[in-house]
Amino acid sequence: MLAPNFGEISMSDKSLYERLGGYDGVVGAVDDILPRLIGDAQLGKFWQNRGQDGIARERQLLIDFLCNAAGGSLYYTGRDMTLTHVGMGISESDWSAFTGHISAALDNLSVGEPERGDVLGFIESLKGEIVE
Ligand code: HEM
Repeated sequence: MLAPNFGEISMSDKSLYERLGGYDGVVGAVDDILPRLIGDAQLGKFWQNRGQDGIARERQLLIDFLCNAAGGSLYYTGRDMTLTHVGMGISESDWSAFTGHISAALDNLSVGEPERGDVLGFIESLKGEIVE
């Protein structure tokens, strides 16, 4: 199953995709978040030995996934969240570290309060598919 459309959670008429600044806004967020994750002492192991090509591929898939879920008219060609992360052994503690980085990135990008809530709510809705 693909992600639910989390743009619809908001009270605003505009999709979350638009409120985040469209494609460029999502790219900006992913480029802020991904280096934080890969450079993290606890989480870095998940991306070890994936190479520049693997990281570039994941970056683009993450952009497509988030744009699509936020209400942008992009097609996501990656795997669903369960299939992608199964067997990685992602723990509660990894999840806390991950969401801490998302929060810090949203602060850094001065994302507004409603959008922040929508993004964090959407990420949280995926937890059951990712944490083992
Ligand atoms: C602690 C949390 C997480 C960790 C450690 C993690 C780790 C990873 C890693 C290592 C990959 C690369 C897989 C590969 O190249 O085969 C990946 C792919 C991906 N992740 Fe995560 N992830 C986490 C949470 C999330 C969340 C919350 C989302 C959605 C917002 C997400 C979306 C994706 C997408 C779209 C891909 C690419 C899918 C594909 O390869 O087909 N991940 N993740």
